[in-house]
Amino acid sequence: MIEIKHLVKNFNNYTVLDDISIKIEKAECVLICGPSGVGKTTFLRCLNLLERPTSGDIIFEGQSILSPTCDILKVRQRIGMVCQQFDLFTNYTVLDNITLAPIKLLKKPVKEAQDEGYDLLEKFRIADKVYSSPLRLSGGQRQRVAIIRALMMSPAVLLLDEPTSALDHQMQLEVCDIIKELHKAGITMVIITHDTLFAESVATRVVQMENGKFV
Ligand SMILES: Nc1ncnc2c1ncn2[C@@H]1O[C@H](COP(=O)(O)OP(=O)(O)OP(=O)(O)O)[C@@H](O)[C@H]1O
Ligand SMILES: [Mg+2]
Repeated sequence: MIEIKHLVKNFNNYTVLDDISIKIEKAECVLICGPSGVGKTTFLRCLNLLERPTSGDIIFEGQSILSPTCDILKVRQRIGMVCQQFDLFTNYTVLDNITLAPIKLLKKPVKEAQDEGYDLLEKFRIADKVYSSPLRLSGGQRQRVAIIRALMMSPAVLLLDEPTSALDHQMQLEVCDIIKELHKAGITMVIITHDTLFAESVATRVVQMENGKFV
């Protein structure tokens, strides 16, 4: 589904990603582990071009996403990302956070987007927070809203940056269950995590990152 070829990312003269190549098959769940500052988030951000690689290529569903003819907004609709800090819009309600992109980008009718939103909030057991600001949610609730926001775009690939790091053990188990379910539903996933729960229960592969390389 995604083929990464000789990916290099430099920040000024500092090489963060050093010639990384990996193939991710459809419906795989690849975990990336490694020490802080080693380039895990940068790697994930390159996969939907939130960070532009210095060199190398990323082929998604047969097409280079670095080619000038590639519609990157379309690619981002197919490759959803849940950031390390969630990045929810605190001036919007939970419902607005999760329906904004489907309405604006996918041009979904408001009612349809909201109905889908309610369903997912229900499923993730935070339907009572639908009109709350993300500022009034717990870390685990924010995490779930961020995952729902990504799911609202029906992505083929989901990139998750430390989805359980801010959670207590019970919430870790719950988010892990959600991720297991998404995996069963056939979504391809790349997850940065130190959480061994994932490694034991959902990973199809675990890669360790060191000095800008997968080892
Ligand atoms: N926009 C940027 N400009 C300059 N340097 C950056 C930028 N983004 C990241 N870096 C540097 O790249 C390196 C890798 O950062 P990255 O966020 O990818 O690490 P990480 O493995 O995700 O770490 P953590 O586990 O702490 O989240 C770090 O040294 C960081 O300071
Ligand atoms: Mg990181």
